[in-house]
Amino acid sequence: MGAAEKKVFIKTYGCQMNVYDSERMTAALGAEGYAPTATPADADLVLLNTCHIREKAAEKVYSELGRLRRLKDGRPDMLIGVTGCVAQAEGAEIIARAPVVDLVVGPQAYHRLPSLIARRVAGERPVETDFPTEDKFDHLPDASRARRAPAAFLTVQEGCDKFCAFCVVPYTRGSEVSRPAARIEAEARGLVERGVVEITLLGQNVNAYRDPDGVGLAALVRRLAAIDGLDRIRYTTSHPNDMDDDLIAAHGEEAKLMPFLHLPVQSGSDRILKAMNRRHGADDYLRLVERIRAVRPDMALSGDFIVGFPGETEADFAGTLALVEAVGYAQAYSFAYSARPGTPAAGRPGVPEAEKSERLHRLQALLVRQQTAFQAAQVGRTLPVLIEKPGREAGQMSGRSPYLNAVHLLAPAELSGRIVPVEIVATSSNSLAGRLVSA
Ligand code: SAH
Ligand code: SF4
Ligand code: F3S
Repeated sequence: MGAAEKKVFIKTYGCQMNVYDSERMTAALGAEGYAPTATPADADLVLLNTCHIREKAAEKVYSELGRLRRLKDGRPDMLIGVTGCVAQAEGAEIIARAPVVDLVVGPQAYHRLPSLIARRVAGERPVETDFPTEDKFDHLPDASRARRAPAAFLTVQEGCDKFCAFCVVPYTRGSEVSRPAARIEAEARGLVERGVVEITLLGQNVNAYRDPDGVGLAALVRRLAAIDGLDRIRYTTSHPNDMDDDLIAAHGEEAKLMPFLHLPVQSGSDRILKAMNRRHGADDYLRLVERIRAVRPDMALSGDFIVGFPGETEADFAGTLALVEAVGYAQAYSFAYSARPGTPAAGRPGVPEAEKSERLHRLQALLVRQQTAFQAAQVGRTLPVLIEKPGREAGQMSGRSPYLNAVHLLAPAELSGRIVPVEIVATSSNSLAGRLVSA
């Protein structure tokens, strides 16, 4: 199509599932003659793939739309679309609040993007937030067509039936749906043919994965582990209640399954866990961690925490600190509770903002100490590192350890996509420095 080719710019917010969806939208739009571009300035179509998880995340969309409005003033035929979880949650409200927006499409309807663009060109400002009966995955080209990097995401499960009292995801992503294992395997093989050696299986509740034939996550992992050329498998995000015996056993048996697990617990107080509708206690979680470490002693754990959930007292918060002390996290995310419209906890009397941020600081200080200790413990070890891309400085490459730490080292660019032994020589705030070891 040459010079007549149109360009699309997608800005991605939120979780890895949005990253994956953006890749699939890029692939779908590629089939419609849109080439990806790295800046909105020369784009014919700009998509904001949004996140609704906390108020701040959702508000970012409107400030970005403000910036885009100025750009569009000089380029009236540029199209602007809002996709993702804000699109799903707010739908037509976005069209009303932001006149610059041409179309709105929720996560379950991305395969309808080309027809929505056509409807916009015909004069409509379409909003598509249905949960269609057809499966978008049957109608979207593989993300693998848009992939170049050695590590890739692959969505295997979407949606959530857990309804934690604080969370918008069950509303924005709908109920749990698992893709058939055979499809996933085919997509994984496609990725491996394009040079991918590490796949992270994605799902809002990935360990609740169960396909229409009854294949669970452990069986899926074993099936993918049989693919030659696929060397590393990860999955995220897991719910503690869905870590079944088979999956725990797989961590002890399957060498390709990496020793890093993101296992959010949110709080260490039973009272708060109950109010959050998490359906497990702090001890259940600690026992689970013990069982996982029994089969995989070097398992690095990651978590998510919410502080200042409605009703959280200083004693409840002390329970969270105690749980963190007991687990010892390699890495973790922590957030001040943000009331989300439409969720059960939204109407409950809140913890004062000052208390929330004071607790958040204390928790984060502890989590940073643990992360620092975890990284310091890697120094002196030789780890297999997947070399992924050029680093910041000349001659440098960056890669990932089995524990998902970023590792920077001097290495030839040809090593990209290879897993090589690297001696860890130093640690900084968010990454490790290594030295290539001749094998
Ligand atoms: N499905 C995953 C993660 C969902 S969202 C899970 O079950 O853990 C990612 C994280 O955002 C959550 O784990 C939670 O810690 C945080 N989060 C979700 N809703 C929030 C809210 N209303 N306020 C603050 N943090 C929230
Ligand atoms: Fe949200 Fe809870 Fe579902 Fe995770 S398990 S997506 S926190 S409702
Ligand atoms: Fe955000 Fe939606 Fe992911 S709300 S965290 S983009 S599932």
